[in-house]
Amino acid sequence: MKLDYKNYENIAIKAALVGGKILKKYFRNLTEFEIKDGAGLVTMADKESESAISLFLNKKTPEFSILGEESGLSQRGENKWIIDPLDGTTNFFHSFPYFNVSIGLEVDEEIVVGVVHNPITNETYHCSKGQGAYKNKKKIHVSSTKELSTSLLGTGFAYMRGAPLDESINLFRDFTHLCHGIRRPGAAALDLCYVACGIYDAFYEKTLSPWDVAAGSLLIREAGGKLSSFDGSDFSVYSKSIVASNSLLHDEIMKVIKK
Ligand code: IPD
Ligand code: CA
Ligand code: CA
Repeated sequence: MKLDYKNYENIAIKAALVGGKILKKYFRNLTEFEIKDGAGLVTMADKESESAISLFLNKKTPEFSILGEESGLSQRGENKWIIDPLDGTTNFFHSFPYFNVSIGLEVDEEIVVGVVHNPITNETYHCSKGQGAYKNKKKIHVSSTKELSTSLLGTGFAYMRGAPLDESINLFRDFTHLCHGIRRPGAAALDLCYVACGIYDAFYEKTLSPWDVAAGSLLIREAGGKLSSFDGSDFSVYSKSIVASNSLLHDEIMKVIKK
């Protein structure tokens, strides 16, 4: 039976608002945190947001599995919610107001619904497969920038130090010489929304997880953008790396990455 994606998009929007409310409660008001092995920080806001979102989604769609960053996979059926309850935890922890809740729905190995909610600005990016991309119900589109030399790019650095970090910094330096500017604000799902709505002309990052990119990648596609992994192969949320562009700059960006 064909699923009504719009219905699940509306459920995901409500779930993201539930998570966002919890993040707002804890923002600049945190008392506890832990350091995850090689994966940065985790706070009570991450955990409480994920449990509240999961509870909400379980009530609405008890037959769906849930893959959440903090609790892993709870297997029920083939269809799977993929949740990042707080994307941008380092920002959140340091009171830097750039973070989000990200929720994607995977059906038959493809993302069909994507929602990214920024509780600070009250901006909600949302989409369903084949039905366009929106910010607070207004249609959004990728930019029309044609040259890397006049572009604004975004990227992120993984938590890993040493050689992988040096590699990211080298690439950051290379792109800085080639474009108007490159930003590294620290919340990948929101960064992808910035490509989807034409603020950035492209975004790339080498080491990401499915919950960082599930929602944002569909927003890019629905907004007219292009996706690939770092080696140029087709993008999947399990690819780890992502290159997301307005499509027009994709080849030029890939040349720099592959060099
Ligand atoms: C992180 C952020 C960051 C990116 C990291 C992610 P988290 O997610 O999206 O921008 O550079 O690779 O892990 O840990 O804050 O949910
Ligand atoms: Ca994340
Ligand atoms: Ca997270």
